[in-house]
Amino acid sequence: MTNTTSEQTKVWDIAVRFFHWSLVAAFAISYITEDEWLTLHTNSGYFIAALLIFRILWGFIGSRHARFRDFVYSPSAIIDYLRKSLRFQSPRYLGHNPAGGAMVVVMLLMLSITVTSGIALLGASEYAGPMAGLFQGEAAELLEEVHEVSANLMLLLIALHLGGVLFSSLAHQENLVKAMITGLKRSNHQ
Ligand code: HEM
Repeated sequence: MTNTTSEQTKVWDIAVRFFHWSLVAAFAISYITEDEWLTLHTNSGYFIAALLIFRILWGFIGSRHARFRDFVYSPSAIIDYLRKSLRFQSPRYLGHNPAGGAMVVVMLLMLSITVTSGIALLGASEYAGPMAGLFQGEAAELLEEVHEVSANLMLLLIALHLGGVLFSSLAHQENLVKAMITGLKRSNHQ
């Protein structure tokens, strides 16, 4: 992408950054509200659904490092990267590294499961939303289970995600959180 100075490169476009930080806020709101404040819970869930649809589209038409083809690697490349990481020999990537890229895909999938089961559950239990009345009885109970388990699995993925961000930041002496705010990273002179 564009070189802003000889030292810094624009890596994350504004759309990726907006997506990330609004997702963090919306996920926190959805997780905390549960069914206690159903309207807020539902609205933040719909907002996450919109973010996901946008991010998947952006994965095909966005800027270089936002595209899936920039960060989706083969299983062997991911394993190789993890092995190197264990030996503190992981190479530096400007975009997502192979393990980070895999985590992004898994998080997008898990969030899609959480959001879809949530919309279906709303349709079953409240007869509201685009899936109103589509499921009943045992199917509704199963949806509730899927919705809860996937939301809790997201917490586990987020913990791993934060661990990966911290590990990679330390390994390459850079502040990846700041990079997700400014969009800028140190240029890779390789
Ligand atoms: C305050 C907590 C969080 C921090 C500090 C943080 C930090 C980051 C950073 C630094 C990256 C870029 C990683 C890289 O350089 O490859 C990233 C990417 C990402 N994070 Fe987080 N994250 C947080 C919470 C979350 C949560 C709660 C979610 C999901 C609900 C999430 C989902 C993602 C996704 C999907 C990406 C990929 C962004 C993209 O390519 O569009 N993050 N995060």
